[in-house]
Amino acid sequence: VVHYLKDYQAPDFAVAEIDLTYTIEEAYTLVRNRMMIVPHEVGRPCVLDGSAELLQIVLNGKCLSPHEYAIADEKLTIHTVPDTQFELEITTRLYPAQNKTLMGLYESGDNLYTQNEPEGFRKITYYFDRPDVMSQFTTTIIGDKRRYPVMLSNGNLIDSGELDNDRHWVCWRDPFAKPSYLFALVAGQLAVLEGNFTTRSGKEVALKFYTRPEDREKAGFALESLKHAMQWDEDRFNLEYDLNIFMVVAVSDFNMGAMENKGLNIFNTKYVLASNDTATDADFEAIEGVIGHEYFHNWTGNRVTCRDWFQLSLKEGLTVFRDQEFSADRASRAVRRIHNVRVLRSMQFAEDAGPMAHPVRPASYEEMNNFYTLTVYEKGAEVVRMYHTLLGEEGFQKGMQLYFQRHDGQAVTCDDFRAAMADANGVNLDQFALWYSQAGTPQIKAHGDYDAHNQTFSLHLRQFIPPTPDMADKQPMVIPVKIGLLDKNGASVAFKMAGTADKTEETVLVFNQTEQTFVFHDVAKEVVPSLLRGFSAPVRLDYPYSDADLMLLLAHDSDSFARWEAAQTLYRRAFASNLDALASVQPLPQHAELAQALTSALNADIDPAYKAVLLQVPTEAELWEDVSSINPEQYVCARQALLQSLASSMQDTLTHWREWADEQERNSRHHAPQEYHPDLAGVRSLRNTLLQWGVLATADLLHNIVNEFSQRATNMTHEYGMLAAINHLSDDKRNDLLNQFGQRHAQDDLVMDKYFILIGSSQRPDTLQQVEKALQHPAFSLENPNKVRSLLGSFSRNIPHFHAADGSGYRFLADYILRIDEFNPQVASRLVQAFNLYDRLEPQRKTLMAEQLQRIQKDEGLSKDSREIVDKILHS
Ligand code: ARG
Ligand code: ZN
Repeated sequence: VVHYLKDYQAPDFAVAEIDLTYTIEEAYTLVRNRMMIVPHEVGRPCVLDGSAELLQIVLNGKCLSPHEYAIADEKLTIHTVPDTQFELEITTRLYPAQNKTLMGLYESGDNLYTQNEPEGFRKITYYFDRPDVMSQFTTTIIGDKRRYPVMLSNGNLIDSGELDNDRHWVCWRDPFAKPSYLFALVAGQLAVLEGNFTTRSGKEVALKFYTRPEDREKAGFALESLKHAMQWDEDRFNLEYDLNIFMVVAVSDFNMGAMENKGLNIFNTKYVLASNDTATDADFEAIEGVIGHEYFHNWTGNRVTCRDWFQLSLKEGLTVFRDQEFSADRASRAVRRIHNVRVLRSMQFAEDAGPMAHPVRPASYEEMNNFYTLTVYEKGAEVVRMYHTLLGEEGFQKGMQLYFQRHDGQAVTCDDFRAAMADANGVNLDQFALWYSQAGTPQIKAHGDYDAHNQTFSLHLRQFIPPTPDMADKQPMVIPVKIGLLDKNGASVAFKMAGTADKTEETVLVFNQTEQTFVFHDVAKEVVPSLLRGFSAPVRLDYPYSDADLMLLLAHDSDSFARWEAAQTLYRRAFASNLDALASVQPLPQHAELAQALTSALNADIDPAYKAVLLQVPTEAELWEDVSSINPEQYVCARQALLQSLASSMQDTLTHWREWADEQERNSRHHAPQEYHPDLAGVRSLRNTLLQWGVLATADLLHNIVNEFSQRATNMTHEYGMLAAINHLSDDKRNDLLNQFGQRHAQDDLVMDKYFILIGSSQRPDTLQQVEKALQHPAFSLENPNKVRSLLGSFSRNIPHFHAADGSGYRFLADYILRIDEFNPQVASRLVQAFNLYDRLEPQRKTLMAEQLQRIQKDEGLSKDSREIVDKILHS
């Protein structure tokens, strides 16, 4: 069944209150669900979503007999219900230990957890499982005292008591009306780490982090992150927490990163637990970001929620924007921005150019779980960022204020958000709506003319939105283009725009027609434009820069994104010449000028983390962005050769800065240099990047790493950084170190994920055999999504091995997709998307991929999750 946005219909019923009682027994859990239902209109049948084992239905105290209702396609229809408010009580029986989908109520490590977004609640009971039905939840949980000492749900604990037979009960009540997807329950043996936060109006909030007992101390960093997030939301967005308690529970079996259930967030352990010995700096940063993200959902998601799932980006795009700003305000704004852009360009642009392309607000879906995508999240965040760029911080905050004034407590649409932004600022944002309805990455062709006589610089822009499977012809969009001008010495040049009195050094062009020319006045000399500063729109922009222009921007641009972008373009050009040379069997160019420009950039007085990102070569996915008939192997070779030649000519510089980084850490003023700190993280990220480059140029470096391993591995960032640097080498020493690593951390679930990532992502020739062997490792489990993502997910992104010319990579992945799909469709359908490149591959690989895709497609028991993706890839 395909669901369409245009078919939206308001609900027929409201639920005034819902009262749930969970009775946890040894082999099953009983759920009694008592609802006070109010018909909006008379005479409509009552249709509830649900798939759980149904034991009983009682309507206004009377037990319904089978002819009074019908069950089909996960819907329960009660033919006749009263015209006015009535009480409906439904009892279901669940088997959480057997639930391997990790949706609804499931067991993990003897404890019980829920995941209900988007449509998990229907696996628990029969309900209007849609986000625009909001109700007040009261939850009673009854369970064995020893097995389930901790029993949690949303809101405040209002009562509890003892029962016979070593059992006890608790009752939670959430004063805020919410949709079913925000309902949560947790029960089991859990330790708690506590803290508190006083909101600015003086409310005392108890903060509680629940983990396995042995992990308790590892939640300390997340707890601190939460306090920072709460403070930041008050300072920057004027938003205060609204309950007296905020709980976070860590669970190791989890389909996604984390979930914002009201007052009771549930997190993948990966985004809560950290210690210096087990987490890298990047892990610490991810924890701070995800803790922020879920906390920020309390207002953008929970207090104001989505009318329907097509509007998912209303909460996700906005909340990703908020978490990105939180992280940027915490530290290293420039580097964070570049990091976000790199993710967007290498992954979301690929999604937009493939079979799954969809607008930020999808027009249709078969399985909603397939639409928790980079487009909805990351491109959605860029769309929110464009409001911010167009309206400024003040205007944007005015829009936020009006949004909450109008919609607090409601379930609304992306149009409501846009209207709040427009109305609060008295501007028209009608055309901006296209960002929500047109898929595909806009492409801009630009060129400039300098007129010395009139002292003007004219910038001509032309936009093109490529067709996507869902839509052929598209309309021009509103594209904010932030721009500055540099003279030939790299100094910023002031200019005047028509109709403005003052000169400025930077402006945001509002480019909203297919073709447009912008004229900069009072420009006294030839200039090089610095375009799309800060990556002001999620587009591809092409300007006919000379290499010298790009080197000028790389050396002097005051905008850190545009400066980095100049290096990216130079890398792309160097890569393209390598690809040509390989194709025509010519000797590879040496790229001496690029090496020189990079050397100067590295030697400039800039922050070490920024130096590290300057050394990032575009990913293969970015490099084949506008190519068809792709031979993935050639891309890896040409890119690798580029790295190799640059690393050899820059050897001395690389060594110099690596030694500098070592010294910085040794002489650090921080009391514990092995701990996470943004400054030290920057130094270490430079060091680890230099190690990766270094092993390409310096044969001895491998031996240094091996010899110094135990002494240098003072924390996980170093330990993992060294292993990653030598991970592709065929030397036996790589295997020895990796084995030692696996043994040393055998007991640590999250570190073992890193062990499996190293195996799955290695370019060594024996990788497939190593992956197959790792599947048998005692720490591996197909039922644990983190493990699957680590080993099989990283293999699916391992270009030379997944795309092996004999088809072995495709066949292997298809085997495991079919196995996993039987019990966890969500995880399987993510893996299927490794095949998204199908249509764009060269003919031989395309044929090999087709065989595997058809094999998956033919599987009769295939989930609708995986089927939707395979069908789209094969466009059948
Ligand atoms: N709302 C969660 C977040 O982004 C993600 C939940 C996704 N769940 C899913 N089953 N796809 O914070
Ligand atoms: Zn979210």
